[in-house]
Amino acid sequence: MARESESGLPIEPVYGPAAQGDWDPAEKLGQPGAYPFTRGVYPSMYTGRPWTMRQYAGFGTATESNARYKQLIANGTTGLSVAFDLPTQMGHDSDAPIASGEVGKVGVAIDSIDDMRVLFDGIPLDRVSTSMTINAPAALLLVLYQLVAEEQGISADRLTGTIQNDVLKEYIARGTYIFPPTPSLRLTADIFKYCRAEMPRWNTISISGYHMAEAGASPAQEIAFTLADGIEYVRTAVAAGMDVDDFAPRLSFFFVARTTILEEVAKFRAARRIWARVMREEFGAKNPKSLMLRFHTQTAGVQLTAQQPEINLVRVAVQGLAAVLGGTQSLHTNSFDEALALPTDKSARLALRTQQVLAYETDVTATVDPFAGSYVVERMTDDVEVAVLELMQKVEDLGGAVNAIEHGFQKNEIEINAYRIAQETDSGERVVVGVNRFQLDEEEPYEPLRVDPAIEAQQAERLATLRAERDQQLVDSALTSLKKAADGEDNVLYPMKEALRARATVGEVSNALREVWGTYVPSNL
Ligand code: 3HC
Repeated sequence: MARESESGLPIEPVYGPAAQGDWDPAEKLGQPGAYPFTRGVYPSMYTGRPWTMRQYAGFGTATESNARYKQLIANGTTGLSVAFDLPTQMGHDSDAPIASGEVGKVGVAIDSIDDMRVLFDGIPLDRVSTSMTINAPAALLLVLYQLVAEEQGISADRLTGTIQNDVLKEYIARGTYIFPPTPSLRLTADIFKYCRAEMPRWNTISISGYHMAEAGASPAQEIAFTLADGIEYVRTAVAAGMDVDDFAPRLSFFFVARTTILEEVAKFRAARRIWARVMREEFGAKNPKSLMLRFHTQTAGVQLTAQQPEINLVRVAVQGLAAVLGGTQSLHTNSFDEALALPTDKSARLALRTQQVLAYETDVTATVDPFAGSYVVERMTDDVEVAVLELMQKVEDLGGAVNAIEHGFQKNEIEINAYRIAQETDSGERVVVGVNRFQLDEEEPYEPLRVDPAIEAQQAERLATLRAERDQQLVDSALTSLKKAADGEDNVLYPMKEALRARATVGEVSNALREVWGTYVPSNL
């Protein structure tokens, strides 16, 4: 009797040659690092160097987060990943009434160039790649990063990193959007053009499926809705006059890794193959780098439990293995205590050590795409690919990702799947160790990390000092230039950079754009 996978696909108790039909592996799979990249984006994958160990971190003030980054670098992390607090992600200053209670809570508070300077103090930005999980105000944090690097004597063309900059998934599953879709996509295109001209090594977007998966999307839905968003971004940039090979090499992706290893490996392999075909056949991309689906993975936060939290160490190790067997370029492993609170220094270090065990104490880095030729994984790769293509066609039939979002299609599909998962968990059909089976009579005590509530007053004080010290006339004229560009055709990142250099705040720059573009109100509210 076949079991059902997370995507609702059959997993047979035994697979044999019949599972693969009569296809020729050499012809269908191709070589690692070559079209259609099923086996991985690089010929050598981890045999040359392991994936980037990139731990998402940030909380409280820039000073506190800077200390955590230095700790992570000292512990061996090989890429930075900045978590911003919600006010920053929503383009509000720490002293805005709407920010109260959220300052420094789920990430670091960044109000201005002053804070950004502190955040990267003592970190050589020409020797580290930095990811920033920022979406609606991604342009602001990108130019703030560039301004701070310039102060370190590092030119923009040497900077490597990524901004998430994926507002479409925010409309679907995460909510940190500001502007309506049209100006949001215009801003995305401005960023693509700006980076091509000023920051050619920067990854301009991290098209994300992670948050949709965390909201309940199945692997097939996660891949389908993410690639559909990707197609929307490519169409937008092409419509804005860019040649596909001018920006596609710097697109990147972000997915989840669940404990269901076989299907996760299959979904990553299917995703690479679909994206390569779409970029070549629909968009006529010629540069091989335009066809490569390079991605970051984060282990599934939604699978972490507050009960018996140490069990999460095992879950994260299994999830991390799934990501590595699936060929991820960059990986974040969750800390075991994150279902309870922000990770402590020790739990953050343990999460990183998990990656180091996978990289240095196993043999999965000794060879490329170890599952190639496996009866089950090749069959599941084919099955996931079919399921993904069907869902992508449904989005296309609704007029593409933005129109489908306006119809609430992706959100609705994900909610249906989330409800199914909840029902299976409640009934015990879906086992969650320590929660609905193998429970303890009494949970053991745990001491979480706490963010100092004084952070809000500290940030408000810093803002008052900044506003008293800066050249207000210069700020006002820079913001006026920004609004003029936003209202016209000029790339907004140039006047935005000058405003932020003059110590305009994240809130002031975002409000200037709100004035011109308005804010998004979901049609299905
Ligand atoms: N052979 C040849 N070259 C190789 C290689 C190999 N085996 N391995 C690596 N390289 C090269 C690459 O070509 C690259 O060079 P280039 O930049 O000149 O092309 C360089 O070495 C770095 O390799 P990668 O680009 O593969 O690795 P990076 O780590 O630099 O980039 C990425 C990975 C996925 C492309 C990038 O976009 C990235 O780092 N993304 C991270 C996104 C992220 O951290 N997101 C966090 C989200 S958290 C969140 O959303 C909130 C929470 O709620 C979850």
